[in-house]
Amino acid sequence: MPKIPVIIDTDPGQDDAFAILLALGEPSLEVLGLTTVAGNMGLTQTTDNARRIVELAGRGDIPVHAGSPRPLVRKPHPVPEIHGATGIDGWDWAPARSGAAVGHAVDFIIDTVLHHPDPVTLIALGPQTNIALALRRAPEIAKSIAGIVFMGGGYFEGGNMTPAAEYNILVDPEAARIVLGAGVPITAVPIDCTHRAPAPVNWSATLAAHGTEVMRACAGMMEFFERYGNAKHGTPSRPLHDAIAVGALLWPELFTGELCPVDVECAGELTTGMTVVDWLRQTGKPDNCLWLNGCVDPAELYRRMEVALAGLGRCAAAPHGSAEM
Ligand code: RIB
Ligand code: CA
Repeated sequence: MPKIPVIIDTDPGQDDAFAILLALGEPSLEVLGLTTVAGNMGLTQTTDNARRIVELAGRGDIPVHAGSPRPLVRKPHPVPEIHGATGIDGWDWAPARSGAAVGHAVDFIIDTVLHHPDPVTLIALGPQTNIALALRRAPEIAKSIAGIVFMGGGYFEGGNMTPAAEYNILVDPEAARIVLGAGVPITAVPIDCTHRAPAPVNWSATLAAHGTEVMRACAGMMEFFERYGNAKHGTPSRPLHDAIAVGALLWPELFTGELCPVDVECAGELTTGMTVVDWLRQTGKPDNCLWLNGCVDPAELYRRMEVALAGLGRCAAAPHGSAEM
């Protein structure tokens, strides 16, 4: 099977880290690069985190291009209360050996989409600022993008930051509206879907038992990531939202959803950042998004994730600071 070329736009975040590691561990994806955005943490931190994550996986060759330090028109909204002071708390990370690649994230997205020999899929795991800017700067890329898979939004589940809005969309609703209106094939992985795919209870112990550095890091991140959500929602385990979005690209057979019109509220007093899903097609607007609303086998989803993660690691004989594999 030919590999799917992807760019991952991300604001690491523990669940972003799992998504990136899953993408690197899955042979059916070709990760062309990461682009970072201000979201869970500030841009400097999300960029450094992205470098640490690719190096943990033994893939320091993957370029990380820094993008927008703030949403299009609103203020940044970091959430250290959820992800910790570093954004990827739960593991004692080795310092990144390399920094961001030369070139802005938006230029990397545009150049790669226009010049890669095969159509590129964009995986958006944070506020969609970089992707919106790329579409505004070079609208012609819309017809060359194979598709956009984004983690974000909520409709039947409401929101996870306000009663109406999920974090990624709330932080930059204007960007999400631009992306949804660009005419690109879009798959949305909202909390309507991710809340149906919680991780196995105590999954961190399963991960740790593998013993590799990657799996011990994942175990620590999972344990930290679940604390806030389990306390807030009264649940025994939490969904890895961003990793589920990568899973939706890899294994669509594990998910349910409907093609329908979706737009974003950008001016509501109570509903700003709400993804307005015309599930019954009452607006007469065109279908612009495959809206996922369920996972048919969460246990199988996390089993497949575990297999992909277990194969990752720095060169076995190479301690920190030595050559990549
Ligand atoms: O609502 C969950 C999303 O917000 C995830 O992408 C998480 O990393 C945070 O960015
Ligand atoms: Ca994220």
